[in-house]
Amino acid sequence: MDKKALILGGKSGLLGQALDHVLKQDKWETICPDRNDFDFLNKDLLREYILDLGVETVFNTIAYTQVDQAEDEKESALLLNKKFPGTLGDICRSQDISLVHYSTDFVFNGKKLTPYTTEDETCPESVYGKTKLQGEKILMANKWDKLIIVRTSWLFGPFKTNFVDKIINFAKEKNNLKIIHDQVGSPTYTIDLAKYSLNLVKKETSGMFHLANKGQASWCELASEAIKCAGLYCNTTPIPSEDYPQKAKRPPYSVLDCSKYSVVTGESPRPWIQSLREYIYNYQ
Ligand SMILES: NC(=O)c1ccc[n+]([C@@H]2O[C@H](COP(=O)([O-])OP(=O)(O)OC[C@H]3O[C@@H](n4cnc5c(N)ncnc54)[C@H](OP(=O)(O)O)[C@@H]3O)[C@@H](O)[C@H]2O)c1
Repeated sequence: MDKKALILGGKSGLLGQALDHVLKQDKWETICPDRNDFDFLNKDLLREYILDLGVETVFNTIAYTQVDQAEDEKESALLLNKKFPGTLGDICRSQDISLVHYSTDFVFNGKKLTPYTTEDETCPESVYGKTKLQGEKILMANKWDKLIIVRTSWLFGPFKTNFVDKIINFAKEKNNLKIIHDQVGSPTYTIDLAKYSLNLVKKETSGMFHLANKGQASWCELASEAIKCAGLYCNTTPIPSEDYPQKAKRPPYSVLDCSKYSVVTGESPRPWIQSLREYIYNYQ
């Protein structure tokens, strides 16, 4: 395997930068262009750029990720979450390039009571979730044996501000934080996700995977664990979603079942609490 990868979103994205970090540790050569280098949404420029690079592996973390804003900016969300993966997929398939594309737990409506498998029915209830699902579908419609789609959830990690960072900063200034407790998901450390993604690439597998750290938490539980790990003293009060109105509807339950990953790699994701400790210890 040629250890050279194009990481789209690798210069500034939360997950993209973690992929860059992990791949470099594994002695990969990484190329991480950003929007200043060329217009990614221009199909001809994108094709020319990828062909010139001659890479065998592409990771796509580019997306319209502002979940609430997407409700008002459907066209922009469609462009990045549906059209762009479609274009990228066409280019990669025609050149027999491996593509790892990321999607989200928000493709589910959260009405299930047990972890979501890759076989479960999707039913997104937000523009973000709907457009991300359309991106999955456009890729799967013309899938090839080097396409991996990874659904993940609730990311935290270094290099870009995220929920855990924000909570720790608030906890330094306040005695009490009110945090949503009726949305439950799988918190996921970007560094772990990058490592698990690389494991899938090395297995030369393809198809849809769920990848998240093990276990589940509400936002309030994740916040209170983060505060504790950071050695801070701040009370957390659990509140229902209706007390913190957000424009986009989120799934109340979106824990991901990652057993397919374990079957293919023989490894299991580690518990999110362990990863959270490592993140706070190493990066806070
Ligand atoms: N964060 C989460 O909790 C979460 C949960 C589930 C799934 N996911 C999925 O995981 C993937 C990575 O998420 P993330 O949190 O790492 O995203 P992120 O931090 O918001 O990064 C998105 C990247 O896309 C780039 N980008 C956006 N619009 C662009 C454009 N028009 N041209 C070029 N680049 C553009 C951004 O560049 P700029 O910095 O220049 O804007 C940034 O590098 C996404 O597919 C997301 O849907 C994330």
